Amino acid sequence: QNKPHDYRPKYHYTAPKNWVNDPNGMVYLDGEYHLFYQYNPFGNVWGHMSWGHAVSKDLKNWETLPVALPEFDNADGTQTMIFSGCAVIDSMNTSGFFEKGFTKGMVAIFTSHIEGKAQHQSIAYSADKGRTWKRYDKNPVLDLGMKDFRDPNVIWYPEKQVWIMTVVKPLEYIAQFYESKDLKKWTLLSEFGKQGDMTKIWECPSLTKVPVEGSTETKWVLMISSGHRQKDYLAMQYFVGDFDGKTFTPQKQNEILYVDEGKDFYAAIPFNNLPKSHAKPIMIGWINDWEYAREIPTGDTWRGGFSVAREFSLKKTTDGLRLVQQPIIQLKNAQKAAFSVKNKVVDGTYEVPFKGEVFDLTLEIQPQEAKVVTLNVFQSQGEATAIRYDANTQELSLDRTRSGQVNFHPRFSSVERVKVPLKDGKLKIRLLADKSILELFAQDGEHALTEWIFPTKNEGGITLTSEGGKAKITTLSVHTVR
Ligand code: FRU
Repeated sequence: QNKPHDYRPKYHYTAPKNWVNDPNGMVYLDGEYHLFYQYNPFGNVWGHMSWGHAVSKDLKNWETLPVALPEFDNADGTQTMIFSGCAVIDSMNTSGFFEKGFTKGMVAIFTSHIEGKAQHQSIAYSADKGRTWKRYDKNPVLDLGMKDFRDPNVIWYPEKQVWIMTVVKPLEYIAQFYESKDLKKWTLLSEFGKQGDMTKIWECPSLTKVPVEGSTETKWVLMISSGHRQKDYLAMQYFVGDFDGKTFTPQKQNEILYVDEGKDFYAAIPFNNLPKSHAKPIMIGWINDWEYAREIPTGDTWRGGFSVAREFSLKKTTDGLRLVQQPIIQLKNAQKAAFSVKNKVVDGTYEVPFKGEVFDLTLEIQPQEAKVVTLNVFQSQGEATAIRYDANTQELSLDRTRSGQVNFHPRFSSVERVKVPLKDGKLKIRLLADKSILELFAQDGEHALTEWIFPTKNEGGITLTSEGGKAKITTLSVHTVR
């Protein structure tokens, strides 16, 4: 049996101890990428929500810093928790919180949550790169007198020289857009909602200007963490459209699109203030699903983790614009694969001569005569996670029913499927594996599936099987990850 600590990922950020959920306040400043996150400083289940903090110089290696914004007590004996939100760099000191001419002020905009009573939006500021914070003495800055009103995400909108906030009324499936000149006084611009996937409440919205591949165009993407109607669990949906500084208009009415088809990618938000050297926006998501998040068997120390940073853009397809995602990771040796093979015909089972639990695998395969092609990873006696392609239905699936520990929650054991048409007769997948986290991408980032697995053995075998005829591996390469 694995000991619980064996599940800790090597290149995905996890907090040294305790519970985490949503990424918050992701922002770049002065050579540092900041990842704040929903954090319980006192235990490894949800509670006492505060903002934890980690920084990175390269989006790959993270250093944990002390809690940035802790839960606090109110005069009437209630507590205010710091729920999800964002951070911006107020380089023109629009808020007036900083000294004249100071360009590096950081402002956090978050939901102040008073259990059972209220949710409103509040702000705090830091003049030392997010290390120490002061809460604004006139909080909240936006209050509708509602119990459910949360997750503000703010961007700078240069055309109007204003800040734009997207925030949700979760139970009403409504995202609202507000503008402000100083981050303190907010004016409602418009609402968008009552469409798309409404099978679960709406949380953690974000509005991002996104480049369209192979053109100089940009479009706006509105992401919402909500549900997946075919699968009845939590997932992120997105809308592609235009934003004119006031209203968001989707490219098509009633189009339902998902960011990730796995069970464990939620509450992702993009970075603010990225340097020009990044041509594309970058997001990080929480790896977990509220249904069983509290019960994942990672032991007594830590619970929950974050995806690797993902660059995203839009691609033109015959159905309209679609999201594509590319992971940003650091290979041990980008030039030299730990194992690779080219143009190999598989008829039956091929045992890949590489074993591991921490790797980056790329497979390009032509199913040819095969009806089903299966890549088994984390394989050992009686156990494997199966990534399967069914050539008849053109479905790619991630099957964790035999992946190891699955019985800790009735909804964990599952097979997730997504339609992935072949391209020139080929399927291309990239699998980031990291102890207990799998991030699967297909057809150059056009599809993503992210999931936890909890193997009970450490054998890390990999096999590839073809059923119903021969298949041809064009390329298979495995890299180790730093
Ligand atoms: C999403 C969420 C947010 C909220 C936070 C509380 O996972 O429910 O809506 O701000 O978690 O921890």
